[in-house]
Amino acid sequence: MEVSATTSAPRETGADTVAVALFEDERPPHDPDGALGALLDSGEAQARPRHLAHVHVDGRRWVLVGCGSRSDFDVERARQVAGAVVVRARELGTRTLAWEVPHHVAPSVAGALVDGTLGAAYRFERFRSEPDEERRGPDALIVCAHDDLGPVVSAAAVVGRAVNTARDLQNEPGNELTPTRLAAHAEALADELEGISVEVLGREELVQRGMGAFSAVAQGSYQEPRLISLCYDGHPSPAGPTLGWVGKAVTFDSGGISLKPGAKMSEMKFDMSGGAAVLGAVEAVARLRMPVRVLAVIGATENLPSGRSVKPGDVVRAGNGTTIEVINTDAEGRLVLADCLAYAVAQGVDSLVDLATLTGAIVTTFGSTYAGLMGRGEEWLDELAAASQASGEELWRLPLHDDYDELIKGTVADILNAVEARKAGSITAAQFLARFTGELPWAHVDIAGVAYERGRAYAPKGGSGFGVRLLVELARGVAAGTPPGPRPDRPPSAS
Ligand code: BES
Ligand code: ZN
Ligand code: ZN
Repeated sequence: MEVSATTSAPRETGADTVAVALFEDERPPHDPDGALGALLDSGEAQARPRHLAHVHVDGRRWVLVGCGSRSDFDVERARQVAGAVVVRARELGTRTLAWEVPHHVAPSVAGALVDGTLGAAYRFERFRSEPDEERRGPDALIVCAHDDLGPVVSAAAVVGRAVNTARDLQNEPGNELTPTRLAAHAEALADELEGISVEVLGREELVQRGMGAFSAVAQGSYQEPRLISLCYDGHPSPAGPTLGWVGKAVTFDSGGISLKPGAKMSEMKFDMSGGAAVLGAVEAVARLRMPVRVLAVIGATENLPSGRSVKPGDVVRAGNGTTIEVINTDAEGRLVLADCLAYAVAQGVDSLVDLATLTGAIVTTFGSTYAGLMGRGEEWLDELAAASQASGEELWRLPLHDDYDELIKGTVADILNAVEARKAGSITAAQFLARFTGELPWAHVDIAGVAYERGRAYAPKGGSGFGVRLLVELARGVAAGTPPGPRPDRPPSAS
């Protein structure tokens, strides 16, 4: 979709449909021929969030979309109303949509309108023999505002497109998006974009470098694993910090010998969502030429049962020397991440964020609303909370505690990869990862509940791209040296 900004009024653009925000206790800002006011007075238009009503004036459709109260209107609400408008625009056969940006809102709201529009218009049609014409959305978006929002709008379009690229990667089936294909995607980014370099390790190199945890997961599959490192260097000074972004990219997680039940197993093609989000975010920060340095490390492999698979009870040694008893081969994400995190630490990153569809327990806890946030270093976790606030990708903090370390204590090796009775499933997974993060400031984001099927207007089905915006805002915050904002609840005993 083409995206542009203008200071002209919507009726001066070539748009066939104009979206106008309606807030509680307010009248429509402009009213061609009194038609919008009539829509409101008749009760057809309502300020209730995402409520829609439309009317034809001067050969255009005007859609009034409820935005709730002004005080509650934030980037997430903006994204959702923009998504709702696209759903209606699709039904109306809209080709060019103009959004009249509400008056007296932050420029980030205009960005969120772009984001929500691009998100809702997204379709994954690679495998359809016939494109679904009925679901064809608008081809162009024009953002109309009194001020020049050109830079905000084009930056939002870059991020929105990167989110959709991450969703494309997520939605690809496992037989298509193999670890090798994911690495090829990273290599293509490095070829195309200035400031990105890439290094890819295969099965033999993983074994040679002693990455026994990652290798153990990969050994059951014919597909070659890939450890993908992408470096984006846009920092003006070599002395500036390097952000370490680590993503779990299990391109299909069957559970391995600890085989998952069949129901919903097909969803496990989404188990590479952390890696997809990291790739999307690197693409966005590089396209925006942000003045930061990022080392992204993505662990890509399948997790399958075979005569070569790792077995329950096996002991493996990770790259940092830690020995692990594999209690459950379905707890493979932490094995892959163990080596990826330790690798990033060895490469000299100054802080870490990992994104992973790591535990079913986080889905039980938060559903599809929050991603779980765990880690160490309060200032760093505050930066994540600020990025969460700015991006609208919500996080909620869970604690770490020495007691949980006891739960993962090994019987014959240093640690276990799964805990008896699945106690504190998400926290013990994080407590496991902590052993591979050195002493660095580190944030673990468990996205198992939010990575797909979020049911939001801008990401109803399939992959959601969750995490791309979060990381982009984190980079923005680091670049600006902004002080931290408000954050999710923090228990007093978090280590
Ligand atoms: N990929 C799954 C986690 C997951 C579950 C992601 C549901 C998305 C939706 C992960 O590898 C896994 O299977 N974890 C196990 C760990 C357990 C065996 C300790 C789980 O959560 O059940
Ligand atoms: Zn698993
Ligand atoms: Zn998994």
